[in-house]
Amino acid sequence: MAPSKAQLWKSKMLMTTAGLLLFLGWVASVSCSVTYDGKALSVDGKRRILISGSIHYPRSTPEMWPDLIEKARNGGLDVIETYVFWNGHEPSPGKYYFEGRYDLVRFIKLVQQAGLYVHLRIGPYVCAEWNFGGFPVWLKYVPGIEFRTDNKPFEDAMQSFTSKIVSMMKAENLFEPQGGPIILSQIENEYGPVEWNLGAPGKAYTKWAASMAVGLDTGVPWVMCKQDDAPDPVINACNGFYCENFKPNADYKPKMWTEAWTGWYTDFGGSIPSRPVEDLAYSIVRFIQNGGSFVNYYMYHGGTNFGTTGGLFIATSYDYDAPIDEYGLVREPKWGHLRNMHKAIKQCEWALVSADPKVTSLGSNQEAHVFQPKSGSCVAFLANYDPTYSVKVNFGNGQYDLPRWSVSILPDCKTEVFNTAKVNAPSYRPRMIAVDGSFSWQSYLEETASAFADDTTTMVGLYEQSNITRDSTDYLWYMTDITIKPGDLTSGQDPFLSVASAGHVLHVFINGQLAGTSYGHLNMPKVTFTSNVKLRVGINKLSLLSVTVGLPNVGLHFETWNTGVLGPITLKGLSSGTWDLSNWKWSYKVGLKGEALDLHTVSGSSSVEWVKGSLLAQKQPLTWYKTTFNAPAGNSPLALDMWSMGKGQVWINGQSIGRHWPAYNAHGTCRPCDYAGIFSEKKCRSNCGQPTQKWYHVPKSWLNPIGNLLVIFEEWGGDPTKISLVQRQ
Ligand code: GAL
Repeated sequence: MAPSKAQLWKSKMLMTTAGLLLFLGWVASVSCSVTYDGKALSVDGKRRILISGSIHYPRSTPEMWPDLIEKARNGGLDVIETYVFWNGHEPSPGKYYFEGRYDLVRFIKLVQQAGLYVHLRIGPYVCAEWNFGGFPVWLKYVPGIEFRTDNKPFEDAMQSFTSKIVSMMKAENLFEPQGGPIILSQIENEYGPVEWNLGAPGKAYTKWAASMAVGLDTGVPWVMCKQDDAPDPVINACNGFYCENFKPNADYKPKMWTEAWTGWYTDFGGSIPSRPVEDLAYSIVRFIQNGGSFVNYYMYHGGTNFGTTGGLFIATSYDYDAPIDEYGLVREPKWGHLRNMHKAIKQCEWALVSADPKVTSLGSNQEAHVFQPKSGSCVAFLANYDPTYSVKVNFGNGQYDLPRWSVSILPDCKTEVFNTAKVNAPSYRPRMIAVDGSFSWQSYLEETASAFADDTTTMVGLYEQSNITRDSTDYLWYMTDITIKPGDLTSGQDPFLSVASAGHVLHVFINGQLAGTSYGHLNMPKVTFTSNVKLRVGINKLSLLSVTVGLPNVGLHFETWNTGVLGPITLKGLSSGTWDLSNWKWSYKVGLKGEALDLHTVSGSSSVEWVKGSLLAQKQPLTWYKTTFNAPAGNSPLALDMWSMGKGQVWINGQSIGRHWPAYNAHGTCRPCDYAGIFSEKKCRSNCGQPTQKWYHVPKSWLNPIGNLLVIFEEWGGDPTKISLVQRQ
């Protein structure tokens, strides 16, 4: 029986619908999707070897972003990675900030415009040597909260921020399936070791975090780094100086390296770390020859910890010895050598994602890794793992020179196009050249706060610092009165004061005079001040200025770590024996007077009387300095050479360029650095015995052509007349 007209129409419709569905399915799978298998991530249906680099948007200025991204693109990167900095975006609960250096959407769109992808590491715990690991300080005071574990208040807050970011990205069509650049996202950060310590609640939290993230339906894969048990479909990834032996937790997941450390961070009091590019390149090529398909340089541009964004004792410079230096200039030969390597790797891409390596021995410490897909193409890596001896090896019909600790890349199994230890990129040293002209300074003395004054709060006992300041300032005064009666002092000996503080820096004032300063370091933030002190009969004003240098960003339950003067505070050598002051009445004052007056701003700085010329304060603790200057001609990046100063903070036109602390000399040992052999962050150090950081980056976009206001708060005492503006060339 012939089909009826209606049946014909129905089947035609069905065919058209099926065709349409097929077409849509094809569009979804071919033009817009990110998937993965055991070989690699696939973008738009194509397996890729992806080279990525970390650039943290708040560590540079929006004006620098296009150039940094362009330099990353020219350096052969496919992907830009950034963390998302929760405490920058949600300074108080539910009040969001996405402007200026925190304009995440603008940053991502610039990456997209440059034709690169984005790996968005939402965290929202980020570590990153960033204040409090990225957590807003208010989070600590959410009732019942415990960070990074199976804890409802924490999980609620984390989910709310993560969802906020994901929905922002979706609203802007920034995920790859929407036509955007984001091909990958990260939840949590290096949680594996924490989970191991916490046991069951840690495991439960991992499961929760993974399923919460996956439930947000971004359309792109999620990763968890340093998390061996990342639940499916989340990919576990490696972080470290070397990752060649890393294996994902399932054979259907690609081998990814989310942090290939290009150098290391600097802490105040520490020397300057660097990592030879020969070793960095060696580690990357070893990863690739072992089947790795995604590498992210941490950092590709490190940048600057402006303001008080740095973590515990972290220096203001976050240069990291990255391929692009703090100032946005390419660092050679690092940048160029890696670019050459990326070119070589890209020549091999197809074979790498299509075949598994066949490994053969070329000698006692030498190997060939050969990728030979069925199509007939052939890629070889020839490796010499020996840190001491260079060798000649025979491979195919040729002979190849392999320097010690190096790998050669042969995209056709014949021609060596790159060797990790043969550096052909240019090499040069940047110079810091003083700009003509000197500053004309004015000074203003900060008040030494005193106990029981109207602007103080009095409590019995000693209290934790960030509890009181909520990290609104680095400074908290602890003050009390010591009343000495005529018979209290024993003759011939000043009493002995001991003040124990949980950190990080402590200035002790007695009757308005600095009696001394104690300070810690990254591995020992606690300090104890001990000294004989002059006390007079009558009332003596004891004023302790406790200073934080960033909140911890890493460690088990770092939110419970204390700062500030928690005691004991004792006075010994009095005729009645030892006095314990810890439970006395203490007055508290949050912040400095100059902070309350906004002395760092144009309007605030004109609210007080400054002195200059012969009255200019020199080498005086607690002093504010100001000057104005014109922007120098030329395009070179700028810095302040602060070598003559002690410790404090610097502002330009009201914006903080960060904490300065040139008086802290780098401890430790600096030895000549050989590229070969296992690298660790302690290996290639420089600057021992010199100030950890004397140059402070001044972003060009913060300057007006004329009349820029430069304000410094100096805690220790310094000589501002020796400060100079320098150009980096
Ligand atoms: C990693 C961490 C990064 C950063 C790095 C050191 O363990 O994931 O955020 O802190 O160490 O620079």
